[in-house]
Amino acid sequence: MASSTLICDTQPWKDLKAHVEHIKKTHLRELMSDTERCKSMMVEFDKILLDYSRHCATLDTIDKLFKLAEAACLKQKINRMFNGERVNSTENRSVLHVALRASRDAVIHSDGKNVVPDVWQVLDKIREFSERVRSGSWIGATGKALKDVVAIGIGGSFLGPLFVHTALQTDPEAIECARGRQLRFLANVDPIDVVRNITGLNPETTLVVVVSKTFTTAETMLNARTLREWISSALGPQAVAKHMVAVSTNLTLVEKFGIDPKNAFAFWDWVGGRYSVCSAVGVLPLSLQYGFSIVERFLKGASSIDQHFYSAPFEENIPVLLGLLSIWNVSFLGHPARAILPYSQALEKFAPHIQQVSMESNGKGVSIDGTFLPFEAGEIDFGEPGTNGQHSFYQLIHQGRVIPCDFIGVVKSQQPVYLKGEVVSNHDELMSNFFAQPDALAYGKTPEQLQNENVPQHLIPHKIFSGNRPSLSLLLPSLNAYNIGQLLAIYEHRIAVEGFIWGINSFDQWGVELGKSLASQVRKQLNASRKKGEPVEGFNFSTTKMLTRYLEASAD
Ligand code: F6P
Repeated sequence: MASSTLICDTQPWKDLKAHVEHIKKTHLRELMSDTERCKSMMVEFDKILLDYSRHCATLDTIDKLFKLAEAACLKQKINRMFNGERVNSTENRSVLHVALRASRDAVIHSDGKNVVPDVWQVLDKIREFSERVRSGSWIGATGKALKDVVAIGIGGSFLGPLFVHTALQTDPEAIECARGRQLRFLANVDPIDVVRNITGLNPETTLVVVVSKTFTTAETMLNARTLREWISSALGPQAVAKHMVAVSTNLTLVEKFGIDPKNAFAFWDWVGGRYSVCSAVGVLPLSLQYGFSIVERFLKGASSIDQHFYSAPFEENIPVLLGLLSIWNVSFLGHPARAILPYSQALEKFAPHIQQVSMESNGKGVSIDGTFLPFEAGEIDFGEPGTNGQHSFYQLIHQGRVIPCDFIGVVKSQQPVYLKGEVVSNHDELMSNFFAQPDALAYGKTPEQLQNENVPQHLIPHKIFSGNRPSLSLLLPSLNAYNIGQLLAIYEHRIAVEGFIWGINSFDQWGVELGKSLASQVRKQLNASRKKGEPVEGFNFSTTKMLTRYLEASAD
Protein backbone atom coordinates (compact mmCIF):
# COMPACT_ATOMS: atom_id res chain seq x y z
CA MET A 1 0.00 0.00 0.00
CA ALA A 2 1.43 3.41 -0.94
CA SER A 3 2.01 5.57 2.12
CA SER A 4 -0.68 8.05 1.00
CA THR A 5 -3.32 5.34 0.58
CA LEU A 6 -5.62 5.07 3.56
CA ILE A 7 -6.34 1.58 4.79
CA CYS A 8 -10.08 2.18 4.39
CA ASP A 9 -9.55 2.55 0.63
CA THR A 10 -8.09 -0.93 0.24
CA GLN A 11 -10.05 -3.92 -1.01
CA PRO A 12 -9.57 -6.00 2.18
CA TRP A 13 -11.12 -3.18 4.25
CA LYS A 14 -14.08 -3.02 1.85
CA ASP A 15 -14.41 -6.80 1.96
CA LEU A 16 -14.55 -6.71 5.73
CA LYS A 17 -17.17 -3.95 5.62
CA ALA A 18 -19.30 -6.13 3.37
CA HIS A 19 -18.67 -9.15 5.58
CA VAL A 20 -20.18 -7.42 8.65
CA GLU A 21 -23.75 -7.96 7.43
CA HIS A 22 -23.11 -11.66 7.16
CA ILE A 23 -21.62 -11.86 10.66
CA LYS A 24 -24.46 -9.86 12.18
CA LYS A 25 -26.87 -12.59 11.09
CA THR A 26 -25.07 -15.24 13.12
CA HIS A 27 -25.41 -15.38 16.90
CA LEU A 28 -22.40 -16.38 18.99
CA ARG A 29 -24.47 -19.32 20.28
CA GLU A 30 -24.35 -20.71 16.79
CA LEU A 31 -20.69 -19.89 16.25
CA MET A 32 -19.77 -21.56 19.53
CA SER A 33 -21.46 -24.80 18.49
CA ASP A 34 -18.84 -25.29 15.77
CA THR A 35 -16.09 -27.14 17.64
CA GLU A 36 -13.64 -27.03 14.74
CA ARG A 37 -13.98 -23.24 14.60
CA CYS A 38 -13.44 -22.97 18.35
CA LYS A 39 -10.38 -25.22 18.18
CA SER A 40 -8.87 -22.98 15.51
CA MET A 41 -9.45 -19.95 17.69
CA MET A 42 -7.22 -21.14 20.51
CA VAL A 43 -3.55 -20.30 20.50
CA GLU A 44 -0.89 -21.28 22.98
CA PHE A 45 2.52 -19.80 23.58
CA ASP A 46 4.82 -20.51 26.51
CA LYS A 47 1.91 -21.84 28.61
CA ILE A 48 -0.24 -18.78 27.89
CA LEU A 49 -3.56 -19.81 26.38
CA LEU A 50 -5.55 -17.37 24.26
CA ASP A 51 -9.15 -18.29 23.42
CA TYR A 52 -10.82 -15.88 21.03
CA SER A 53 -13.66 -18.17 19.99
CA ARG A 54 -16.18 -15.87 21.68
CA HIS A 55 -15.58 -13.17 19.13
CA CYS A 56 -18.27 -12.44 16.59
CA ALA A 57 -16.05 -13.78 13.86
CA THR A 58 -15.76 -16.82 11.66
CA LEU A 59 -12.58 -18.34 10.30
CA ASP A 60 -13.38 -16.43 7.13
CA THR A 61 -13.38 -13.19 9.16
CA ILE A 62 -9.93 -14.01 10.51
CA ASP A 63 -8.73 -14.76 7.00
CA LYS A 64 -10.04 -11.42 5.83
CA LEU A 65 -8.29 -9.70 8.75
CA PHE A 66 -5.01 -11.33 7.70
CA LYS A 67 -5.56 -9.90 4.22
CA LEU A 68 -6.10 -6.50 5.81
CA ALA A 69 -2.83 -6.95 7.69
CA GLU A 70 -1.12 -7.67 4.40
CA ALA A 71 -2.64 -4.58 2.79
CA ALA A 72 -1.41 -2.51 5.75
CA CYS A 73 2.10 -4.01 5.36
CA LEU A 74 1.91 -5.13 8.98
CA LYS A 75 4.85 -7.51 8.82
CA GLN A 76 7.06 -4.88 7.19
CA LYS A 77 6.05 -2.31 9.81
CA ILE A 78 6.86 -4.69 12.66
CA ASN A 79 10.24 -5.37 11.06
CA ARG A 80 10.90 -1.67 10.62
CA MET A 81 10.20 -1.11 14.31
CA PHE A 82 12.52 -3.93 15.41
CA ASN A 83 15.17 -2.75 12.94
CA GLY A 84 15.30 0.66 14.59
CA GLU A 85 13.91 2.63 11.65
CA ARG A 86 12.36 5.96 12.57
CA VAL A 87 8.79 4.74 12.64
CA ASN A 88 7.87 7.64 14.92
CA SER A 89 8.17 10.02 12.00
CA THR A 90 6.66 13.14 13.56
CA GLU A 91 9.34 13.09 16.24
CA ASN A 92 11.93 11.57 13.92
CA ARG A 93 12.67 8.75 16.35
CA SER A 94 12.97 5.03 16.30
CA VAL A 95 10.78 3.00 18.62
CA LEU A 96 12.90 0.46 20.40
CA HIS A 97 11.39 -0.46 23.75
CA VAL A 98 12.10 -4.04 22.66
CA ALA A 99 15.82 -3.25 23.04
CA LEU A 100 15.26 -2.50 26.74
CA ARG A 101 14.63 -6.16 27.45
CA ALA A 102 16.87 -7.75 24.83
CA SER A 103 19.47 -10.22 26.01
CA ARG A 104 23.01 -8.95 26.55
CA ASP A 105 24.27 -10.52 23.33
CA ALA A 106 21.44 -9.22 21.10
CA VAL A 107 22.16 -6.68 18.39
CA ILE A 108 19.57 -3.95 17.80
CA HIS A 109 20.48 -0.86 15.84
CA SER A 110 19.34 2.71 16.05
CA ASP A 111 21.06 5.10 13.65
CA GLY A 112 23.59 2.44 12.76
CA LYS A 113 24.61 1.90 16.40
CA ASN A 114 23.94 -1.24 18.41
CA VAL A 115 22.00 0.09 21.42
CA VAL A 116 22.05 -3.10 23.48
CA PRO A 117 25.44 -2.44 25.17
CA ASP A 118 24.13 0.99 26.32
CA VAL A 119 21.00 -0.65 27.69
CA TRP A 120 23.06 -3.16 29.65
CA GLN A 121 25.44 -0.52 30.91
CA VAL A 122 22.50 1.19 32.61
CA LEU A 123 21.04 -2.12 33.81
CA ASP A 124 24.39 -3.03 35.36
CA LYS A 125 24.55 0.37 37.01
CA ILE A 126 21.04 -0.17 38.42
CA ARG A 127 21.98 -3.63 39.65
CA GLU A 128 25.03 -2.26 41.43
CA PHE A 129 23.28 0.80 42.89
CA SER A 130 20.19 -1.07 44.04
CA GLU A 131 22.33 -3.72 45.72
CA ARG A 132 24.27 -1.03 47.54
CA VAL A 133 21.10 0.65 48.76
CA ARG A 134 19.45 -2.62 49.73
CA SER A 135 22.50 -3.94 51.53
CA GLY A 136 22.99 -0.68 53.41
CA SER A 137 26.35 0.14 51.86
CA TRP A 138 24.81 3.28 50.30
CA ILE A 139 23.60 5.18 53.33
CA GLY A 140 21.79 8.43 53.94
CA ALA A 141 23.29 11.70 55.20
CA THR A 142 22.89 10.70 58.85
CA GLY A 143 24.37 7.25 58.36
CA LYS A 144 21.10 5.35 58.23
CA ALA A 145 20.17 2.77 55.60
CA LEU A 146 17.61 3.92 53.00
CA LYS A 147 14.72 1.51 53.26
CA ASP A 148 11.96 3.61 51.72
CA VAL A 149 11.74 4.92 48.18
CA VAL A 150 9.44 7.60 46.77
CA ALA A 151 9.37 7.54 42.97
CA ILE A 152 8.17 10.86 41.57
CA GLY A 153 6.83 10.76 38.02
CA ILE A 154 3.60 10.95 36.04
CA GLY A 155 2.03 9.27 32.99
CA GLY A 156 4.45 6.78 31.51
CA SER A 157 6.93 7.61 34.24
CA PHE A 158 4.45 6.30 36.80
CA LEU A 159 1.66 4.05 35.53
CA GLY A 160 3.79 1.19 34.22
CA PRO A 161 6.02 0.96 37.30
CA LEU A 162 2.94 1.18 39.56
CA PHE A 163 1.27 -1.66 37.64
CA VAL A 164 4.33 -3.91 37.95
CA HIS A 165 4.87 -3.00 41.60
CA THR A 166 1.25 -3.78 42.44
CA ALA A 167 1.43 -7.08 40.59
CA LEU A 168 4.72 -8.12 42.21
CA GLN A 169 3.38 -7.41 45.65
CA THR A 170 1.62 -10.78 45.61
CA ASP A 171 4.56 -12.85 44.39
CA PRO A 172 5.84 -14.75 47.46
CA GLU A 173 9.46 -14.48 46.34
CA ALA A 174 9.13 -10.76 45.63
CA ILE A 175 7.42 -10.24 48.98
CA GLU A 176 10.35 -11.91 50.69
CA CYS A 177 12.84 -9.73 48.81
CA ALA A 178 10.92 -6.56 49.68
CA ARG A 179 10.66 -7.30 53.38
CA GLY A 180 11.21 -4.17 55.48
CA ARG A 181 11.15 -1.88 52.45
CA GLN A 182 8.52 0.47 51.01
CA LEU A 183 8.02 1.84 47.52
CA ARG A 184 5.63 4.74 47.04
CA PHE A 185 4.67 6.69 43.93
CA LEU A 186 4.09 10.43 43.88
CA ALA A 187 2.41 11.46 40.64
CA ASN A 188 -0.30 14.04 41.06
CA VAL A 189 0.49 17.72 41.45
CA ASP A 190 -2.35 17.80 43.96
CA PRO A 191 -0.67 18.66 47.29
CA ILE A 192 -2.69 15.86 48.88
CA ASP A 193 -0.61 13.36 46.94
CA VAL A 194 2.56 14.88 48.42
CA VAL A 195 1.15 14.69 51.93
CA ARG A 196 0.01 11.10 51.47
CA ASN A 197 3.38 10.08 50.16
CA ILE A 198 5.53 11.58 52.85
CA THR A 199 3.24 10.78 55.76
CA GLY A 200 4.97 8.22 57.95
CA LEU A 201 8.29 8.52 56.14
CA ASN A 202 11.49 9.73 57.68
CA PRO A 203 13.73 11.77 55.35
CA GLU A 204 16.75 10.12 56.99
CA THR A 205 15.75 6.71 55.62
CA THR A 206 14.13 7.80 52.35
CA LEU A 207 15.52 7.79 48.84
CA VAL A 208 13.69 9.93 46.27
CA VAL A 209 13.85 8.87 42.63
CA VAL A 210 12.80 11.62 40.21
CA VAL A 211 11.57 9.94 37.03
CA SER A 212 10.96 12.08 33.98
CA LYS A 213 11.94 11.45 30.40
CA THR A 214 12.07 15.17 29.60
CA PHE A 215 12.77 16.48 33.11
CA THR A 216 10.45 19.36 32.27
CA THR A 217 7.03 17.95 33.17
CA ALA A 218 5.43 20.57 35.39
CA GLU A 219 3.84 18.20 37.90
CA THR A 220 6.96 16.10 38.35
CA MET A 221 9.31 19.05 38.67
CA LEU A 222 7.10 20.76 41.26
CA ASN A 223 6.85 17.54 43.27
CA ALA A 224 10.62 17.03 42.93
CA ARG A 225 11.29 20.55 44.25
CA THR A 226 8.89 19.93 47.13
CA LEU A 227 10.63 16.71 48.17
CA ARG A 228 14.06 18.29 47.71
CA GLU A 229 12.91 20.91 50.20
CA TRP A 230 11.53 18.19 52.50
CA ILE A 231 14.94 16.54 52.55
CA SER A 232 17.12 19.61 52.77
CA SER A 233 15.04 21.31 55.45
CA ALA A 234 15.32 18.17 57.61
CA LEU A 235 18.89 17.11 56.82
CA GLY A 236 20.59 20.09 55.20
CA PRO A 237 21.10 20.83 51.49
CA GLN A 238 24.14 18.55 51.21
CA ALA A 239 21.85 15.58 51.98
CA VAL A 240 20.24 15.84 48.52
CA ALA A 241 23.27 14.08 47.00
CA LYS A 242 22.61 10.99 49.12
CA HIS A 243 18.83 11.08 49.11
CA MET A 244 17.88 11.99 45.53
CA VAL A 245 18.62 10.23 42.26
CA ALA A 246 17.07 10.63 38.83
CA VAL A 247 15.95 8.72 35.75
CA SER A 248 15.85 10.77 32.57
CA THR A 249 16.95 11.19 28.97
CA ASN A 250 17.88 14.78 29.82
CA LEU A 251 20.98 14.57 32.02
CA THR A 252 21.75 18.27 31.58
CA LEU A 253 18.51 19.25 33.31
CA VAL A 254 19.09 16.59 35.97
CA GLU A 255 22.39 18.26 36.84
CA LYS A 256 20.83 21.73 36.77
CA PHE A 257 18.24 20.52 39.25
CA GLY A 258 21.03 19.62 41.65
CA ILE A 259 21.30 15.87 41.23
CA ASP A 260 24.78 14.57 40.51
CA PRO A 261 24.75 13.01 36.99
CA LYS A 262 26.67 10.10 38.55
CA ASN A 263 23.43 9.37 40.39
CA ALA A 264 21.32 9.59 37.25
CA PHE A 265 20.13 6.62 35.24
CA ALA A 266 19.78 7.32 31.57
CA PHE A 267 17.43 6.19 28.88
CA TRP A 268 17.03 7.29 25.30
CA ASP A 269 14.72 9.21 23.02
CA TRP A 270 13.86 5.96 21.20
CA VAL A 271 11.90 4.93 24.30
CA GLY A 272 8.40 6.44 24.40
CA GLY A 273 7.23 7.51 27.87
CA ARG A 274 4.35 5.04 27.95
CA TYR A 275 6.66 2.27 26.71
CA SER A 276 9.37 3.04 29.26
CA VAL A 277 8.58 0.69 32.15
CA CYS A 278 11.37 -1.67 31.02
CA SER A 279 13.91 1.18 31.09
CA ALA A 280 15.38 2.65 34.26
CA VAL A 281 11.95 4.29 34.68
CA GLY A 282 10.60 1.01 36.03
CA VAL A 283 13.73 -1.03 36.57
CA LEU A 284 15.33 1.33 39.10
CA PRO A 285 12.46 1.76 41.58
CA LEU A 286 11.44 -1.89 41.23
CA SER A 287 15.03 -3.12 41.75
CA LEU A 288 15.33 -0.97 44.84
CA GLN A 289 12.21 -2.60 46.20
CA TYR A 290 12.58 -6.20 45.04
CA GLY A 291 16.17 -6.63 43.96
CA PHE A 292 17.48 -6.67 40.42
CA SER A 293 17.15 -10.40 39.81
CA ILE A 294 13.35 -10.32 40.21
CA VAL A 295 13.14 -7.39 37.79
CA GLU A 296 15.42 -9.18 35.35
CA ARG A 297 12.85 -11.99 35.19
CA PHE A 298 10.21 -9.42 34.34
CA LEU A 299 12.40 -8.18 31.47
CA LYS A 300 12.93 -11.76 30.27
CA GLY A 301 9.17 -12.31 30.18
CA ALA A 302 8.66 -9.21 28.05
CA SER A 303 11.51 -10.28 25.79
CA SER A 304 9.97 -13.71 25.25
CA ILE A 305 6.87 -12.01 23.83
CA ASP A 306 9.04 -9.70 21.69
CA GLN A 307 10.55 -12.78 20.06
CA HIS A 308 7.14 -14.37 19.63
CA PHE A 309 5.68 -11.18 18.15
CA TYR A 310 8.61 -10.79 15.78
CA SER A 311 8.77 -14.34 14.52
CA ALA A 312 5.50 -16.26 14.99
CA PRO A 313 3.23 -16.60 11.98
CA PHE A 314 0.21 -14.34 12.30
CA GLU A 315 -2.13 -17.33 12.86
CA GLU A 316 -0.27 -18.12 16.10
CA ASN A 317 0.86 -14.64 17.02
CA ILE A 318 -0.96 -13.53 20.18
CA PRO A 319 -0.36 -9.76 19.91
CA VAL A 320 -1.17 -9.77 16.20
CA LEU A 321 -4.40 -11.71 16.73
CA LEU A 322 -5.44 -9.43 19.59
CA GLY A 323 -4.68 -6.33 17.52
CA LEU A 324 -6.64 -7.59 14.54
CA LEU A 325 -9.62 -8.53 16.71
CA SER A 326 -9.61 -5.03 18.17
CA ILE A 327 -9.65 -3.58 14.67
CA TRP A 328 -12.57 -5.85 13.80
CA ASN A 329 -14.50 -4.74 16.88
CA VAL A 330 -13.78 -1.03 16.58
CA SER A 331 -13.72 -0.36 12.87
CA PHE A 332 -16.18 -2.91 11.56
CA LEU A 333 -18.58 -3.97 14.30
CA GLY A 334 -18.66 -0.44 15.71
CA HIS A 335 -17.69 -1.22 19.32
CA PRO A 336 -15.33 1.61 20.33
CA ALA A 337 -14.66 0.49 23.92
CA ARG A 338 -12.90 -2.45 25.47
CA ALA A 339 -13.04 -3.70 29.04
CA ILE A 340 -9.89 -5.15 30.56
CA LEU A 341 -10.96 -7.57 33.25
CA PRO A 342 -8.18 -9.36 35.09
CA TYR A 343 -9.43 -11.98 37.52
CA SER A 344 -6.54 -11.16 39.79
CA GLN A 345 -6.41 -8.37 42.33
CA ALA A 346 -2.67 -8.18 41.72
CA LEU A 347 -3.49 -6.77 38.28
CA GLU A 348 -5.60 -3.92 39.62
CA LYS A 349 -3.29 -1.33 38.07
CA PHE A 350 -3.09 -3.09 34.72
CA ALA A 351 -6.09 -1.39 33.12
CA PRO A 352 -4.98 2.12 34.19
CA HIS A 353 -1.59 1.46 32.63
CA ILE A 354 -3.04 0.08 29.42
CA GLN A 355 -5.39 3.06 29.24
CA GLN A 356 -2.38 5.29 28.74
CA VAL A 357 -0.50 2.94 26.43
CA SER A 358 -3.54 2.43 24.25
CA MET A 359 -5.33 5.75 24.33
CA GLU A 360 -2.25 7.98 24.15
CA SER A 361 -0.86 5.80 21.36
CA ASN A 362 -3.89 5.31 19.18
CA GLY A 363 -6.17 8.23 20.00
CA LYS A 364 -5.31 9.98 16.74
CA GLY A 365 -7.25 11.72 13.99
CA VAL A 366 -4.75 11.68 11.16
CA SER A 367 -2.79 9.05 9.31
CA ILE A 368 0.96 8.93 9.70
CA ASP A 369 1.39 11.18 6.66
CA GLY A 370 -1.05 13.77 8.00
CA THR A 371 -4.22 12.86 6.09
CA PHE A 372 -7.38 13.30 8.16
CA LEU A 373 -8.88 9.89 8.83
CA PRO A 374 -12.38 9.27 7.49
CA PHE A 375 -12.82 6.66 10.24
CA GLU A 376 -12.22 6.72 13.97
CA ALA A 377 -9.03 5.20 15.28
CA GLY A 378 -8.31 4.36 18.90
CA GLU A 379 -10.14 2.42 21.52
CA ILE A 380 -11.65 3.45 24.85
CA ASP A 381 -10.08 1.24 27.49
CA PHE A 382 -11.28 0.77 31.01
CA GLY A 383 -11.36 -2.03 33.50
CA GLU A 384 -11.31 -3.39 37.00
CA PRO A 385 -10.34 -6.71 38.41
CA GLY A 386 -13.05 -9.35 38.58
CA THR A 387 -15.03 -10.00 40.61
CA ASN A 388 -15.15 -6.35 41.80
CA GLY A 389 -16.10 -5.17 38.32
CA GLN A 390 -19.02 -7.59 38.27
CA HIS A 391 -20.59 -5.60 41.09
CA SER A 392 -19.92 -2.33 39.37
CA PHE A 393 -20.29 -2.00 35.60
CA TYR A 394 -21.04 -5.51 34.31
CA GLN A 395 -24.76 -4.71 34.24
CA LEU A 396 -24.09 -2.46 31.28
CA ILE A 397 -21.87 -5.04 29.63
CA HIS A 398 -24.53 -7.76 29.94
CA GLN A 399 -27.70 -5.87 29.10
CA GLY A 400 -26.65 -2.42 27.93
CA ARG A 401 -23.98 -1.52 25.42
CA VAL A 402 -21.83 -4.09 23.69
CA ILE A 403 -18.31 -3.84 25.07
CA PRO A 404 -15.81 -6.48 23.94
CA CYS A 405 -14.11 -7.84 27.04
CA ASP A 406 -10.63 -9.18 27.73
CA PHE A 407 -10.85 -11.74 30.53
CA ILE A 408 -7.42 -12.37 32.03
CA GLY A 409 -7.09 -15.30 34.40
CA VAL A 410 -4.24 -16.96 36.24
CA VAL A 411 -4.02 -20.72 36.82
CA LYS A 412 -2.12 -20.70 40.09
CA SER A 413 -3.01 -18.41 42.93
CA GLN A 414 0.05 -16.89 44.48
CA GLN A 415 -1.54 -16.33 47.81
CA PRO A 416 -3.54 -19.37 48.84
CA VAL A 417 -5.38 -18.67 52.07
CA TYR A 418 -4.67 -21.17 54.83
CA LEU A 419 -7.07 -21.54 57.72
CA LYS A 420 -6.29 -24.15 60.37
CA GLY A 421 -3.65 -25.55 58.03
CA GLU A 422 -6.15 -26.12 55.19
CA VAL A 423 -6.09 -24.24 51.90
CA VAL A 424 -9.36 -22.39 51.51
CA SER A 425 -9.99 -22.41 47.81
CA ASN A 426 -10.79 -18.76 47.17
CA HIS A 427 -8.98 -18.98 43.87
CA ASP A 428 -11.44 -21.53 42.49
CA GLU A 429 -14.27 -19.26 43.60
CA LEU A 430 -12.66 -16.38 41.74
CA MET A 431 -11.89 -18.45 38.66
CA SER A 432 -15.43 -19.84 38.48
CA ASN A 433 -16.44 -16.31 37.61
CA PHE A 434 -13.63 -15.99 35.08
CA PHE A 435 -14.95 -19.07 33.26
CA ALA A 436 -18.64 -18.22 33.62
CA GLN A 437 -18.76 -14.59 32.54
CA PRO A 438 -17.61 -15.11 28.92
CA ASP A 439 -20.37 -17.69 28.39
CA ALA A 440 -22.97 -15.47 30.00
CA LEU A 441 -22.00 -12.73 27.56
CA ALA A 442 -21.87 -15.01 24.54
CA TYR A 443 -24.99 -17.10 25.09
CA GLY A 444 -27.23 -14.79 27.06
CA LYS A 445 -30.65 -15.98 28.18
CA THR A 446 -33.70 -16.24 25.93
CA PRO A 447 -37.38 -15.52 26.74
CA GLU A 448 -38.05 -19.25 26.27
CA GLN A 449 -35.51 -20.15 28.92
CA LEU A 450 -37.06 -17.63 31.27
CA GLN A 451 -40.56 -18.99 30.62
CA ASN A 452 -39.32 -22.49 31.39
CA GLU A 453 -38.02 -21.16 34.68
CA ASN A 454 -41.51 -19.79 35.43
CA VAL A 455 -40.34 -16.20 35.51
CA PRO A 456 -43.44 -13.95 35.73
CA GLN A 457 -44.34 -12.57 32.31
CA HIS A 458 -43.88 -8.91 33.29
CA LEU A 459 -40.31 -9.57 34.41
CA ILE A 460 -39.24 -11.48 31.32
CA PRO A 461 -38.13 -8.39 29.29
CA HIS A 462 -36.01 -7.27 32.24
CA LYS A 463 -34.35 -10.64 32.60
CA ILE A 464 -33.53 -11.29 28.96
CA PHE A 465 -29.84 -11.38 28.11
CA SER A 466 -29.41 -10.90 24.39
CA GLY A 467 -25.97 -12.56 24.44
CA ASN A 468 -23.85 -12.31 21.29
CA ARG A 469 -21.41 -10.14 23.22
CA PRO A 470 -17.78 -10.73 22.30
CA SER A 471 -14.95 -11.49 24.67
CA LEU A 472 -11.61 -13.21 24.69
CA SER A 473 -9.87 -15.10 27.44
CA LEU A 474 -6.19 -15.11 28.27
CA LEU A 475 -5.13 -17.75 30.75
CA LEU A 476 -1.68 -17.24 32.27
CA PRO A 477 0.09 -20.06 34.11
CA SER A 478 0.89 -17.84 37.11
CA LEU A 479 1.61 -14.26 37.96
CA ASN A 480 5.30 -14.17 38.68
CA ALA A 481 7.65 -11.48 37.41
CA TYR A 482 8.19 -13.34 34.13
CA ASN A 483 4.46 -13.62 33.35
CA ILE A 484 3.88 -9.99 34.30
CA GLY A 485 6.51 -9.01 31.71
CA GLN A 486 4.77 -11.19 29.15
CA LEU A 487 1.39 -9.64 29.80
CA LEU A 488 2.81 -6.15 29.45
CA ALA A 489 4.51 -6.92 26.13
CA ILE A 490 1.41 -8.65 24.71
CA TYR A 491 -0.61 -5.47 25.21
CA GLU A 492 2.16 -3.11 24.07
CA HIS A 493 2.47 -5.00 20.79
CA ARG A 494 -1.26 -5.40 20.36
CA ILE A 495 -1.60 -1.64 20.51
CA ALA A 496 1.21 -1.21 17.96
CA VAL A 497 -0.56 -3.67 15.64
CA GLU A 498 -3.74 -1.61 15.82
CA GLY A 499 -1.85 1.58 15.00
CA PHE A 500 0.02 -0.08 12.14
CA ILE A 501 -3.26 -1.26 10.63
CA TRP A 502 -5.03 2.07 11.04
CA GLY A 503 -1.97 3.68 9.47
CA ILE A 504 -1.41 6.17 12.28
CA ASN A 505 1.65 7.11 14.32
CA SER A 506 1.12 5.30 17.63
CA PHE A 507 4.30 6.73 19.11
CA ASP A 508 3.74 10.47 19.32
CA GLN A 509 1.31 12.31 21.63
CA TRP A 510 0.76 15.84 20.35
CA GLY A 511 -2.74 15.74 21.78
CA VAL A 512 -1.46 16.32 25.30
CA GLU A 513 0.21 19.63 24.48
CA LEU A 514 -2.67 22.11 24.13
CA GLY A 515 -4.06 21.56 27.62
CA LYS A 516 -0.56 21.85 29.10
CA SER A 517 0.11 25.22 27.45
CA LEU A 518 -3.29 26.62 28.44
CA ALA A 519 -2.64 25.50 32.03
CA SER A 520 0.62 27.40 32.07
CA GLN A 521 -1.18 30.59 30.89
CA VAL A 522 -3.70 30.14 33.68
CA ARG A 523 -0.87 29.58 36.16
CA LYS A 524 0.71 32.90 35.11
CA GLN A 525 -2.62 34.65 35.57
CA LEU A 526 -3.10 33.14 39.04
CA ASN A 527 0.37 34.28 40.09
CA ALA A 528 -0.18 37.78 38.71
CA SER A 529 -3.58 38.11 40.41
CA ARG A 530 -2.41 36.78 43.73
CA LYS A 531 0.91 38.62 43.92
CA LYS A 532 0.13 41.88 42.12
CA GLY A 533 -3.66 42.01 42.31
CA GLU A 534 -3.94 41.99 38.52
CA PRO A 535 -7.46 41.39 37.16
CA VAL A 536 -8.23 38.24 35.21
CA GLU A 537 -7.80 39.13 31.54
CA GLY A 538 -7.52 37.49 28.15
CA PHE A 539 -9.81 34.54 28.82
CA ASN A 540 -13.33 33.87 27.57
CA PHE A 541 -16.34 34.79 29.72
CA SER A 542 -16.71 31.35 31.22
CA THR A 543 -13.08 30.88 32.24
CA THR A 544 -12.84 34.49 33.50
CA LYS A 545 -15.89 33.93 35.73
CA MET A 546 -14.55 30.64 37.10
CA LEU A 547 -11.06 32.04 37.72
CA THR A 548 -12.41 35.14 39.43
CA ARG A 549 -14.60 33.03 41.71
CA TYR A 550 -11.66 30.77 42.50
CA LEU A 551 -9.36 33.69 43.33
CA GLU A 552 -11.95 35.47 45.43
CA ALA A 553 -13.09 32.41 47.33
CA SER A 554 -9.61 31.06 48.01
CA ALA A 555 -8.39 34.45 49.25
CA ASP A 556 -10.79 34.26 52.25
O1 F6P B 1 1.49 14.22 29.22
C1 F6P B 1 1.90 13.14 28.51
C2 F6P B 1 3.33 12.75 28.74
O2 F6P B 1 4.15 13.43 27.87
C3 F6P B 1 3.45 11.25 28.59
O3 F6P B 1 3.59 10.84 27.30
C4 F6P B 1 4.58 10.95 29.48
O4 F6P B 1 4.58 9.61 29.85
C5 F6P B 1 4.31 11.87 30.65
O5 F6P B 1 3.77 13.03 30.05
C6 F6P B 1 5.47 12.19 31.52
O6 F6P B 1 6.53 12.74 30.82
P1 F6P B 1 7.99 12.81 31.43
O7 F6P B 1 8.46 11.42 31.66
O8 F6P B 1 8.81 13.53 30.41
O9 F6P B 1 7.91 13.56 32.71
